[in-house]
Amino acid sequence: MKSDRAAIGGGTVLASLACQAEAVPEMRANAKALMASGPYRLLVRRVVLPWVLQGEQPAGEGLEIGAGSGAMTAQLLAMFPQLRMVATDYDSEMVERAGQAVAPYGDRARVERADAADLAFVDGRFDLVLSAAMLHHTLAWEKALAEAIRVLRPGGRLIGYDLLDSAVSRLMHFGGAHESGHAHESGHAHESGHVPENGHVHETRLIRPGQLEVELRRLRLTAVRTRRSLGGAVVRFSATKPA
Ligand SMILES: C[S@@+](CC[C@H](N)C(=O)[O-])C[C@H]1O[C@@H](n2cnc3c(N)ncnc32)[C@H](O)[C@@H]1O
Repeated sequence: MKSDRAAIGGGTVLASLACQAEAVPEMRANAKALMASGPYRLLVRRVVLPWVLQGEQPAGEGLEIGAGSGAMTAQLLAMFPQLRMVATDYDSEMVERAGQAVAPYGDRARVERADAADLAFVDGRFDLVLSAAMLHHTLAWEKALAEAIRVLRPGGRLIGYDLLDSAVSRLMHFGGAHESGHAHESGHAHESGHVPENGHVHETRLIRPGQLEVELRRLRLTAVRTRRSLGGAVVRFSATKPA
């Protein structure tokens, strides 16, 4: 539907603008405020989360990696009373904001500072892992994905969405100042963007179309579903960790 697509686009743009971060994601003050704002929470509630869930009905214990202001986790807790959530983010200020967002849910919610590429949780702990618009901020996104799968229980579900490398997403992130083709420590040739900003460098690594599917297959997930939207700028994904 046209209006939904526009709203989803708005959500993605908002989430993305909010994450114009430094090399290890530290968002600007106005971006952090945007992510914690009423309009962003409304968009998450009405459009982004239902679109990401694709009918999923999570229960048990879930983890959100790169949870930002906690808007997605808080809405999951509101929608699914059987669900407990751990919201994590690398940025300690976002951890604090997420703590405020999930405070109404008491002991159903925990918030922790964690690098998605190096999680301290034991193998197989979670029933659900949510990754929303954060992988492209994690230069080692394959590591973050592998960590997400490690901490899922067999039969647990991975759901999320992210930006794909496209003219639209490059414009959103780099405003035309995009440099590509930098070698990454993982050894993968990749597209990355470096934008000098207030004396800092903001780095992202957009996922190339098809790369996510390759990684999900490499991790031997089942029930893999990926769907591109917004002219290929965004990908939604869901998959199951095999028993
Ligand atoms: C675009 S925001 C998305 C926030 C939230 N998932 C949402 O959809 O509202 C991306 C978030 O990922 C976090 N992030 C980036 N790299 C990370 C990493 N390696 N580990 C944990 N969090 C990370 C940033 O601090 C930021 O809060």
